[in-house]
Amino acid sequence: MFTQFSNSGESVGFRENKAVGVSIEHLSKSFNKLNVLKDFSLKVAPGEIFVLMGPSGSGKSVLLRHIIGLEMPDSGVVLINGKDALSEDIREHVRMALVFQAGALFNSLTVFDNLALYLREHRLGTEKQIKDKVMQALTLLSLEDAAKKYPSELSGGMKKRVAISRALVMEPQLLLYDEPTSELDPVSSAMIDEIIATLRDQYRVTTIVVSHDRDLAMSIADRVGILMNGNLIHIGTPESLKNPTDKRVSDFLYPKVDLNNPRFKKIIP
Ligand SMILES: Nc1ncnc2c1ncn2[C@@H]1O[C@H](COP(=O)(O)OP(=O)(O)O)[C@@H](O)[C@H]1O
Ligand SMILES: [Mg+2]
Repeated sequence: MFTQFSNSGESVGFRENKAVGVSIEHLSKSFNKLNVLKDFSLKVAPGEIFVLMGPSGSGKSVLLRHIIGLEMPDSGVVLINGKDALSEDIREHVRMALVFQAGALFNSLTVFDNLALYLREHRLGTEKQIKDKVMQALTLLSLEDAAKKYPSELSGGMKKRVAISRALVMEPQLLLYDEPTSELDPVSSAMIDEIIATLRDQYRVTTIVVSHDRDLAMSIADRVGILMNGNLIHIGTPESLKNPTDKRVSDFLYPKVDLNNPRFKKIIP
């Protein structure tokens, strides 16, 4: 399946991107009294794949929403190519897409119409041009046979691929993924990993992936960060995850279950 994906990339006519750099500077964000991000800073280079890991509730999705301009920081700034992500210039001229965790597909629309919606709403071409672009994006992810199906008829892995192909019709220069392999079996997860890496290689799209998936981080990241208590407790190459010296990092990446814990004894009479 993937050979086809890789080989077809050059001929389909998606633009090779002018990759953008992201610089998050001293970002803080609270909800009521909950300090989610505390003076958080990170630079992601043009064309890089950065994987952000961290426990549930640590603020990973909140961070992605700031990067794409859906959330206002309490203080600090997100810069895209040196300009505020919330500025008109960036909003109008930089193409960004977020692949939401649950896909956020419209269940009442076919796969084709889910992809066409953005292009039609923004009048980005004639109906024939939109059709060509949608079919290109679906073909890239080996989904051409799913065009007429509804989301409810698709497997979990296919839904994730549809969500990615929907982001692709925007020809993004910055592509953010929120937990792209959650709830997937290992084969489907590996396929998504390969898609993310191939899209970066072919289109040089700057890529930030939020994930719990250690295999994904190990296989496709240029760098990995771990978010805990509002800030990065670790940043480095995938290799640096192998023998972490910080106990918080090793407890997160390689959790141990103590079967001698009295809690477990109670389960077994
Ligand atoms: N709009 C919001 N209003 C109030 N609390 C929020 C909001 N968005 C996120 N939170 C809280 O911020 C924390 C981080 O959330 P989130 O970024 O979704 O975590 P995760 O790392 O699992 O993606 C959680 O405690 C969540 O309940
Ligand atoms: Mg989340």
